[in-house]
Amino acid sequence: MLKYVIKGPTKGVNSSISIEGAKNCCLPLLASTVLFEDTVTLTNVNLSNDVLLTCKLLEDLGSKVEISEKNKSIKVINKKKHKLIINYKYTSRMRAVVLFLGALLSKYPKNSIQAGKPGGCSLGYRGIDFHLEGFKRLNANHTLKDGYVKISAKNGLIGNTYKFPKVSVTGTANLILSAVFAKNITTLKNISIEPEVTSLIDFLNNSAKFRFIKFKGKRTIQIKGIKKLIKGSYKVIGDRINAFSYLCVGAITRGKVKVNNINPKHLKKELEILKKIGCEIKNDNFSISINAKKKLKPTNITTGPWPSLATDNMPILMAVLATIDGKSTIKETIFSNRYMAAPELSRMGASINIKNNKATIIGVKNLFGANCICSDLRSTFAIILGAIAAKGVSKIARVYHGSRGYYQLPKKLKKLGINIKSIT
Ligand code: EPU
Repeated sequence: MLKYVIKGPTKGVNSSISIEGAKNCCLPLLASTVLFEDTVTLTNVNLSNDVLLTCKLLEDLGSKVEISEKNKSIKVINKKKHKLIINYKYTSRMRAVVLFLGALLSKYPKNSIQAGKPGGCSLGYRGIDFHLEGFKRLNANHTLKDGYVKISAKNGLIGNTYKFPKVSVTGTANLILSAVFAKNITTLKNISIEPEVTSLIDFLNNSAKFRFIKFKGKRTIQIKGIKKLIKGSYKVIGDRINAFSYLCVGAITRGKVKVNNINPKHLKKELEILKKIGCEIKNDNFSISINAKKKLKPTNITTGPWPSLATDNMPILMAVLATIDGKSTIKETIFSNRYMAAPELSRMGASINIKNNKATIIGVKNLFGANCICSDLRSTFAIILGAIAAKGVSKIARVYHGSRGYYQLPKKLKKLGINIKSIT
């Protein structure tokens, strides 16, 4: 199995890289392609493993998929009726394919759609109860048999109002997808306004004859069901989590990194935090530069739905804080088990104390290379950051978690001047 070997410490990197499109934007867009009669072209895609797996599912369902690595594009061509079963082999590997439940229900409401119910996850409890409750409001009923959710709307989908009990990114996207062709008007309240969700709204609006999805408040939208979607194209937004990850290579090495192909507005809170800890940040409309040459200061942070600090960026920041003199604290408000990088960073000598959803970090002068194991996508990058700062060699196992979202990760790190090797 693939491992990364990192020799550290690397100090004062001074380089630039370009970021791929956002994985979490590609996934709902790919699910939405089943709504279309003909071809959808996505550009600036992130050809990470989660996106490739979603393309495989699309092919399984009956769409033709053309991937161009050179052009960073995916073309999805729909000519025939889709299969209506999302096999557990997909939902067990990637929860986001549950988005196909909403999309297929929307396109084939009176048929029975089946999807393997996603199970446990390394980040903690992650239900799909909001998704199913929302579908029910639109007149679709489900049953659970042999681990599969079976859903249909015998009399068609009919618009209604649904208020999410808690902001949910995939829940919002799924409900939007399901309501596209529903009769009358659907109102969704307390929705996620993550840039990846507003991208999906923009894409659907741009592909229809008129803007049928409208904001009626900060977290409320109204969807006026339409008849058809024929063709579409969309340039995926830059990956804000990956961009932040590489900016933190600048922070942890106390160096300079310029990240291209990213909209700085999508990282407003994160950039505020980097400035607060003493990094110099410069940006234009498409790039962000960090200069972390001055002495950095500890801080206190709390995650939350966008525009707050993204929970995905928390473990990455935690690795940086572990190297800053003084006491920092973190409060995680989204997932119950998001500190999986902490014990691995502690193996390198970091001082991180976790109590419930809070972490207290006392910055140390030096980290030391160690063998570590990754257990989820973002903790992989946090562990890599620790290894970059650590004296000596770190061997990092189960890095396949990282390949789910980071495209060409070792290549990008090498470009930044990191001593990293892939071994099997
Ligand atoms: N929740 C429920 N019931 C539901 C849905 C959500 O209780 O039916 C809870 C969750 O357990 C969690 C909270 O609501 O406590 C928010 O979860 P959300 O639904 O927003 O998470 P998600 O949509 O499954 C997406 C990203 C995650 C990211 C979270 C939070 C995608 C494909 N995934 O997950 O990204 O951490 O939002 O921002 O967009 C990643 O990229 O590695 C990743 C995990």
